[in-house]
Amino acid sequence: MIFKYKCEPFNGPIKPATVIFVSAGPEALDRTDELSSFRLQAQQHLSCGAFKGGRLDTLPLFCGQDTWLVMVGLGNLEELTEATLLEAAAKAGQTLASLRVKEAVVCLPSLAFGSIKTFELIVVGFKLALEPRFNYKTTKTDPPLALRQLTFQTPSASNFIDRSKVILSRSETAALAQLEARRLTDGPASVITPESLAKEAVEAGLAKMFKVTIWDETKLEIEKCGAILAVGRGSSRQPRMVIIEYQGAAGLAADPATIIIGKGVTFDSGGLCLKPSENMALMKTDMAGAAAVLAVMKAAATLKLPQRLVGLMPLAENMPDGAAYRPGDIITTMSGQTIEVINTDAEGRLLLADALTLAQKYNPARLIDIATLTGACQIALGDRCAGLFCEHQTLLKTIQNAGEAVGEKFWPMPFISEYEESLKSDLADFKPSAARAGGAINAALFLRRFVKKDIPWAHLDIAGTARNSHATAGFPEGATGFGVRTILKILTDG
Ligand code: BES
Ligand code: MN
Ligand code: ZN
Repeated sequence: MIFKYKCEPFNGPIKPATVIFVSAGPEALDRTDELSSFRLQAQQHLSCGAFKGGRLDTLPLFCGQDTWLVMVGLGNLEELTEATLLEAAAKAGQTLASLRVKEAVVCLPSLAFGSIKTFELIVVGFKLALEPRFNYKTTKTDPPLALRQLTFQTPSASNFIDRSKVILSRSETAALAQLEARRLTDGPASVITPESLAKEAVEAGLAKMFKVTIWDETKLEIEKCGAILAVGRGSSRQPRMVIIEYQGAAGLAADPATIIIGKGVTFDSGGLCLKPSENMALMKTDMAGAAAVLAVMKAAATLKLPQRLVGLMPLAENMPDGAAYRPGDIITTMSGQTIEVINTDAEGRLLLADALTLAQKYNPARLIDIATLTGACQIALGDRCAGLFCEHQTLLKTIQNAGEAVGEKFWPMPFISEYEESLKSDLADFKPSAARAGGAINAALFLRRFVKKDIPWAHLDIAGTARNSHATAGFPEGATGFGVRTILKILTDG
């Protein structure tokens, strides 16, 4: 589909469809004073109360002669968030799709977010809603999308007409990256395996010209990645470590890099500490972090970001088997530190332990890991907000601000030193805590032991946000691709 941008006055409901965003309250249309030509139709429906402009309320109005005016509510402007604006656009996109129009004009509202950010969020919302989603159904129920062209229009003698192409393609790239992460994450564990993900990375490297190195089991042995090997041992599918190096502008391979690590457990059965069967199917999502890393690296290359980036994807399947690692096992991690395994279901932090150790060999300017790590984090923050563990104030702010800008929430979580007690082991250097209380914090404390103090490091726990339990506008049930656009925003901002 083609996205276009035009800076010209709105000129009445346009064939076949025009989208306007309307806020709740008496000022609904006054705020969007440029809408004069739509005022009559819109005002009638507002004054009779048929449409109140409530958050994500949608009204497609037939204006005769194959012309539609689609009104989408933003709710009270004081409460309007980036996420709501994105969802409103997604809602509009879904409505256009169901009207089966071939073309539409979207009137960009003037909002406190500023014109560029408003534009970006709306483009992403439409893109997320309109791209077809892959499935395995033998009978395709959804007819192909009729919409061919969307024109975003603004009358406010806009300052970014010359940059609109760049902003458009940047927003589309970000949305596509998020969709790619969703595709990988939604894929069943029989298809999305450590090997297949490594292959995807290699293919991406060939297409996008970045360097991809794959470590197989033998190489992992040589590199002493004892933790990754332990987790992978119970599966017939070998673990992998994928190392993606993107150089950006001319520079040295040893230049400081932003390093992103994504947990890649292609299926988390819990291992010998088997999970209950209820909801076990959802554990194909346990590689959402790795999917985000791959999607971000590809998008960074597409956008030709001028900086050095390293993406690490530790990949394994956590299964019970005669060869599986056991509670009580002592493993030597790549860092040399020994760990006493307590619960084989705490596998993610083991993968991350070795990956964090490896990351520090690449001269990290900053280090971010993203992982569906703990059920505790999901319980604490729900499915719309990720846990953000970071003791480096600048990096913490950077992540929170980037998240806010793209409509993803990250809430700062504490490292509580008292809980280090639960990491004590009599036999090994320490153990991953198996305490349920403070579970997300305990995991972060464990990870911290693998990161040198002076390195700006952030740990993002996306256990809650990686999956959507029910469909919302632009977010079908299933993988969300959460984190992709936040990380891209951090990278594009420098
Ligand atoms: N992959 C899970 C965490 C998870 C739970 C992600 C729910 C998404 C939704 C992780 O590997 C795990 O099993 N964590 C355990 C840790 C415990 C055994 C210390 C947990 O959270 O219960
Ligand atoms: Mn687990
Ligand atoms: Zn897991």
